[in-house]
Amino acid sequence: MNNAVAGFSKLSKEAKIDWIANTYFSNPTEAVKTIKQYWNSDVQLQQLHDEFIENTITNFYLPMGIAPNFLINGKYYSVPMVIEESSVVAAAAKSAKFWSTRGGFKATVLNTEKIGQVHFIFKGDRDKLQSFFNAIKATLLASTESITKNMQKRGGGILSLELRDKTAELENYYQLHATFETKDSMGANFINSCLEQLAKSLKEAAQNYVAFTEAEKDITIVMSILSNYVPNCIVRAEVSCRVEELAEKKIENPTLFAEKLVQAVRIAEIEPYRAVTHNKGIMNGVDAVVLATGNDFRAVEAGVHAYASRSGQYSSLSHAKIENGIFTFWMEIPLALGTVGGLTSLHPLVKLALEILGKPSAQELMQVVAVTGLAQNFAALRSLTTTGIQEGHMKMHLNNILNQYQATAEERKAIARYFEDHTVSHASVVELIENLRK
Ligand code: MEV
Repeated sequence: MNNAVAGFSKLSKEAKIDWIANTYFSNPTEAVKTIKQYWNSDVQLQQLHDEFIENTITNFYLPMGIAPNFLINGKYYSVPMVIEESSVVAAAAKSAKFWSTRGGFKATVLNTEKIGQVHFIFKGDRDKLQSFFNAIKATLLASTESITKNMQKRGGGILSLELRDKTAELENYYQLHATFETKDSMGANFINSCLEQLAKSLKEAAQNYVAFTEAEKDITIVMSILSNYVPNCIVRAEVSCRVEELAEKKIENPTLFAEKLVQAVRIAEIEPYRAVTHNKGIMNGVDAVVLATGNDFRAVEAGVHAYASRSGQYSSLSHAKIENGIFTFWMEIPLALGTVGGLTSLHPLVKLALEILGKPSAQELMQVVAVTGLAQNFAALRSLTTTGIQEGHMKMHLNNILNQYQATAEERKAIARYFEDHTVSHASVVELIENLRK
């Protein structure tokens, strides 16, 4: 079957839905019903969401939950999280509560520098290119003034601009490498606008530079784009307490627990197979807050994993030690986040999430996000090194299975009673439901 379509984006929303329903479904009416079931009855609100992207047909729900009791630098936060994985919010909340009675989390923003590059091809004498760059650098920067004016008023702007010779790696390849301060905005639009202006001015200046030959005047701009690798936009999150203070109901031997946790982190530091899963657990927390606050989780993911590989081997983002009877658990991660611009003032739930967090600055949000990641990592490691991860996971998953089987309130009660002292597995839940229904 040929399901290609011409001019899809020009069709009305109704026509798009009809085309999808009639092309892919044996029961188009059912498909249309499912799609429209998720429309918001508030027409204006629906239109707002429709216009976030192209070709919108409906909304895709993800739950938004709250992990309360996060004590960060002496202040309590209730952290909004958007995520589909059943155990994540519960784990964050548990970890937050645990550390709130042990001094809470400490978080520090170490630096906030963003990066962008103009990638270009220059066929000629590299020393001449360097002299040319030195001569026109001020003009290049001045050409961005109309773009940087407002950002400068807020204390941001272009921090540095340099010419980088990359010809050893790729023939005739050079860069304008720029660093930026974008204050409370993530800065992608600002950085890209600056870069495109720098590229245009570079090309124009080359054409008028008398010392260049005709070939040298013909600089080819390949592309101008920010980097999502931000190793100088780093936040540190940390918890620590005396080893014996780690004791609680499921941690009877705090020394053994602390030692196992440090071992688990060491394993993630040296073993990439484990490091990826370990860091995935951190990103469960990070992404959920990044999404709830309308930030770009793909940018954060790409940057964080590149940072985790900066030694040449993919490794753990978090670290742990026991020194003089004190257990310390910490991580430093790159986070380019914004609390103004983008979705922050557009999406009503993003606005709400930021309000729950007390309208934080970008730096404060970096702290909250990193702490949530560390809390998530602690919760995962605690389960893994004590009861095993499945106990908590399957308890949460039980609900999903019950929903799938449309269990009645009575069935749910009986099933909950049974699993108080039995291990939950998908098969055992299904078997129990089927037995109850016999
Ligand atoms: C599951 O989403 C995350 C974990 O696998 C993380 C980890 O293993 O550390 C539990």
